[in-house]
Amino acid sequence: MAEPQGVQRGLQDVVALESRICFIDGRQGRLIYQGYDIRDLAARSTFEEVAYLLWYGRLPNATQLEELKGRFGTVRALPPPLVDQIDRMPIEAHPMDILRTAVSALAGFEPEETRPGASSIGGAQRLTAVLPSILAQFHRRRKGLPLVRARPELSQAAYLLYAVLDREPTELETRAMDVALILHADHELNASTFAARVTASTLSDLYSAVTSAVGTLKGPLHGGANERVMELLDEIGTPERVEEIVHGKLSRHERIMGFGHRVYKVEDPRATILREWSRKVGENKGDLHYYELLRRVEEVVHREKGLYPNVDLYSGSVYSLLGFPADLFTPIFAASRVAGWTAHVLEEYQDLRLIRPTAKYVGAVDLPYVPIGQRS
Ligand code: SDX
Repeated sequence: MAEPQGVQRGLQDVVALESRICFIDGRQGRLIYQGYDIRDLAARSTFEEVAYLLWYGRLPNATQLEELKGRFGTVRALPPPLVDQIDRMPIEAHPMDILRTAVSALAGFEPEETRPGASSIGGAQRLTAVLPSILAQFHRRRKGLPLVRARPELSQAAYLLYAVLDREPTELETRAMDVALILHADHELNASTFAARVTASTLSDLYSAVTSAVGTLKGPLHGGANERVMELLDEIGTPERVEEIVHGKLSRHERIMGFGHRVYKVEDPRATILREWSRKVGENKGDLHYYELLRRVEEVVHREKGLYPNVDLYSGSVYSLLGFPADLFTPIFAASRVAGWTAHVLEEYQDLRLIRPTAKYVGAVDLPYVPIGQRS
């Protein structure tokens, strides 16, 4: 057996597989989905187009796009027993726990043989369509709002705003939400996508793989950072306190959420786009409070640590301006990334290889077994 290589903690820089779905150039700060630059997609595409692109490897024509929009509209409704289950969960629960539980439970209400497309694109479309409905159902119940109408004519972005915030979104709000969904849709082998692929590599089903991914995304070193960025901003309060608070945290070797990245060595191109949307939506709402704080925080962190912002730095300020509470920010991330998770799961099924790295054992060996009566 080959001698195990040196340990690559966190699998840093380990090339685990070949994929056609997403390319990240960490040195140039470039992000590409199936050949298309994220800047073009954010400027000209929609989340529905991007989901199609991730699943099929090409942009849809007009008919294919309309069919996908129609499919999202028809399969976004929750089975009534799942609505009951969500309604029985404690309203104090974190929405990511609700999301993880509901995706897992959905599998139980849709046994594999009856699932729309099971472990195929049909299942990917079902899960992508239904995640916003799950987080909307939970949020509406904790707000005492009635069941939401499915509104099949609405895009994912518009439905997310309408269903959660209980109002008709403006064109600018819908576009801001759509761009955020495009930007979060995939990101190569990030931790939650890798978790989904590990699950799929055992030939487990799509719903189990997405359940693994939701649980992984929740972590503050991954998708949970956007919520913590807002906690930092609320702690800072005013531009005058940025220097003191951020410098203090850095001097205590604390992490500043929204900065740094395992792959990007320059600015995350998604942060560049979200910074602009934070300004645009802030100006539209007449509220640049978070935007201005974030600009100051950027200056201090870059000056003191040479770190750049990642996707999580500005996303929360956009979601907050749109009216979402901070504990829904990571669920919104999941409602987008489910397109990427499912694309990677389907790619794994097409070229299946059980993912099973090895560990360098550094524990004891050949210890004599001592009967319990002789142990201290
Ligand atoms: C996402 O992988 C993906 O693609 C993820 C993602 C996606 O789309 O799926 O891009 C989404 O998860 C973005 C990242 C969100 N997380 C955060 O913003 C949390 C804060 N960031 C850090 O925890 C950190 O930057 C990571 C986890 C993102 C990356 O960490 P690495 O690659 O393991 O780097 P490291 O921990 O080895 O840090 C290297 C140095 C260290 O300094 P020293 O101890 O060597 O002096 O940089 C420092 C770290 O202390 N550092 C930070 C920091 N990030 C790194 N110091 C302060 N604040 C930070 N945020």
